[in-house]
Amino acid sequence: MEILKIDSIKKEFRTGPEKIVVLKNIDLLVEAGTTTVITGESGSGKSTLLNLIAGMDTPTSGKILVRDIEVTGLSEEELTQFRRKTIGFIFQFHFLLKGFNALENVMMPAFIAGVPGKKAKERALRLLDDVNLSHRKNHYLVQLSGGERQRIAVARSLMNDPHIIIADEPTGNLDEKNSKNVEDILFKLVEQYNKTMLLVTHDRGLARRGTGHFEIEHGVLNPQ
Ligand SMILES: Nc1ncnc2c1ncn2[C@@H]1O[C@H](COP(=O)(O)OP(=O)(O)O)[C@@H](O)[C@H]1O
Ligand SMILES: [Mg+2]
Repeated sequence: MEILKIDSIKKEFRTGPEKIVVLKNIDLLVEAGTTTVITGESGSGKSTLLNLIAGMDTPTSGKILVRDIEVTGLSEEELTQFRRKTIGFIFQFHFLLKGFNALENVMMPAFIAGVPGKKAKERALRLLDDVNLSHRKNHYLVQLSGGERQRIAVARSLMNDPHIIIADEPTGNLDEKNSKNVEDILFKLVEQYNKTMLLVTHDRGLARRGTGHFEIEHGVLNPQ
């Protein structure tokens, strides 16, 4: 089943009189349950593309369909719902909240979606166990290492049982050992929970682990 269809996406940014064309013409089909890796030089438009797919920004032209829903045609309110239900995010910087412990951070997407409670807590505890951090559930951000924080971000991305995991350089801030650890856990869970993943990385080794690999060059996606 096709879960994502990108049709002739173009994205320009304007700042005053200046216009930069970041994405010229992007087409992509993604099958459910696969991992698509996207690489490209810094500034080539990788994050821009992920933001468009996640409905966090709108393209200049072209269409994006996720599970046959036209993301590019949704209202702000519908987009908020779409992001909560359909997409799980992992960024290079963890974006965990300082004032909350590990368990609460994993539960955050459920709080935001207005569905906290016993079930959410059970799921969060299971996800913490999945990332081997059960024993740190009551710990706060300052008590956790970079690798542990990223593992919590991985658990959090799965909290609302999204269809697609969007990971933007999830190991970009980690040393080799922690990168490998986070990477292994991420791939294991994506498979275990049968998710589709879009993964941006600089890491060539990581790129080889995907089902498909594309490089953004001069605003287009080239299969690798
Ligand atoms: N909101 C914005 N306004 C203007 N230019 C932007 C904006 N967001 C990104 N850009 C530009 O678009 C290009 C691609 O950025 P980005 O997608 O972040 O690249 P990558 O993630 O591949 O490093 C860069 O030149 C960046 O400066
Ligand atoms: Mg980026």
